[in-house]
Amino acid sequence: MKTIIEPFRIKTVEPIRMTTREQRLALIKAANYNLFALKSEDVIIDLLTDSGTSAMSTQQWSALMRGDESYAGSPSFYNFEQAVKELMPFKHVIPTHQGRAAEAIVVSIFGGENKIVPNNTHFDTTRANFESAGVIALDLVIEEGKDPACDHPFKGNMDLEKLDQLLREKGDEIPLVMTTVTNNAGGGQPVSMANIRATKELCEKYGKPFFIDSCRFAENAYFIKIREEGFGDKSVSDIVREMFSYADGMTMSAKKDAFANMGGWLALNNDEWAEQARTRLIMTEGFPTYGGLSGRDLECVAAGLKEIVDEDYLHYRIRSIQYITEKLDAIGVPVMKPGGGHAVFVDARKMLPHIPALQYPAQALAVELYITGGIRGVEIGSFMFGRQPDGSEVPAAMELVRLAMPRRVYTQSQADYLIECFEEIYRKAGEIKGMEVTWEPGSLRHFTSRLKPLDIAE
Ligand code: F0G
Repeated sequence: MKTIIEPFRIKTVEPIRMTTREQRLALIKAANYNLFALKSEDVIIDLLTDSGTSAMSTQQWSALMRGDESYAGSPSFYNFEQAVKELMPFKHVIPTHQGRAAEAIVVSIFGGENKIVPNNTHFDTTRANFESAGVIALDLVIEEGKDPACDHPFKGNMDLEKLDQLLREKGDEIPLVMTTVTNNAGGGQPVSMANIRATKELCEKYGKPFFIDSCRFAENAYFIKIREEGFGDKSVSDIVREMFSYADGMTMSAKKDAFANMGGWLALNNDEWAEQARTRLIMTEGFPTYGGLSGRDLECVAAGLKEIVDEDYLHYRIRSIQYITEKLDAIGVPVMKPGGGHAVFVDARKMLPHIPALQYPAQALAVELYITGGIRGVEIGSFMFGRQPDGSEVPAAMELVRLAMPRRVYTQSQADYLIECFEEIYRKAGEIKGMEVTWEPGSLRHFTSRLKPLDIAE
């Protein structure tokens, strides 16, 4: 069969409130052309993030009732711990309310002025956590990973030569090496097993711990299964276990590849780090058997972890992103290739070449997509990254619109609607105007800034 169907039936629905183009023109103006300022009920298809937006299964909803809310020693914690260890056999599993809380604990153990932590690409909260502790967060993804048009099976791979050189020359300043699977900030691109193994070997050679930022571990493992030689016959669970066998620690956001609406954890093998982490956890998150989560959240994560490694699900998941990527490519929309694991990335620099970087082509495109079809994506470009700590503004490396697909939420006809919206936008791309920022906060401006299109008077 050619058609890969959604491997689930819909039991509960959330009605979508439809809006007209005229209504959306008024709504986006009232939101000062910042998509974060829209009310979600004014959005028809919400592709702002795949984080915390998954549809839970009947198993997860029933697991929720099993949640035991004891402060200490809840059976829900032990269910959660067992589900994590089944896939990621670390000695210590420490729950946190979400991924960035696990990162903050890692930083409290390994951070310090002028230290350097390399990663393929740090996600923005990981970078912000390290930088707030004076650490230099260095991105060492391979060159192919920085070119949206370059077709490479593992564009998330770490540049091993650069890593080797860094460890050789600045080893004393490096407390930790990380890799992110899949590489979210680099387009949801996977990291190969060979690259994970080789990164670990370099870490061993120089005596450094190796951690995996694991949010989309199952999508990464499925890419290994279908793209890397020698893995085609292995189960995704076995591939996941092998990936983590090379790591000394992991940080995780259960809001992605655990189908949970909230949750995360830090897992470690080293007893001393675990003790430091638990002490920190008690101060900032909670007692080590709940760590900022309710018992019912822990049960939902435990149930979700069993479902995320289902290969029918992963087959559909990866195919549904490829489907949109291929259809957009076929109508001429420049997309990041090959399709990533959780999102489609549109190259706005190529699609709107008449808009200079500092007039935010990707923000202009994201706004146009909302006006055209009520679809909300997110700008990842000069609006998000352009403002520098010294107040100057420089163009970002890429001008992308990310369309992140929530897990098990939207159907193929909703994907077809998205493609149709792009067909319309593509026809009149030359008419889209750049944008300017009329107000911005001191930092992280993309969340709250106000903007306006350049042809509209104040
Ligand atoms: N690491 C990566 C690679 C992520 O993508 C995220 C979150 C985090 C860490 C932090 O996890 O949100 O649970 O605190 N990414 C979301 C996104 C927000 O939209 O890509 P968190």
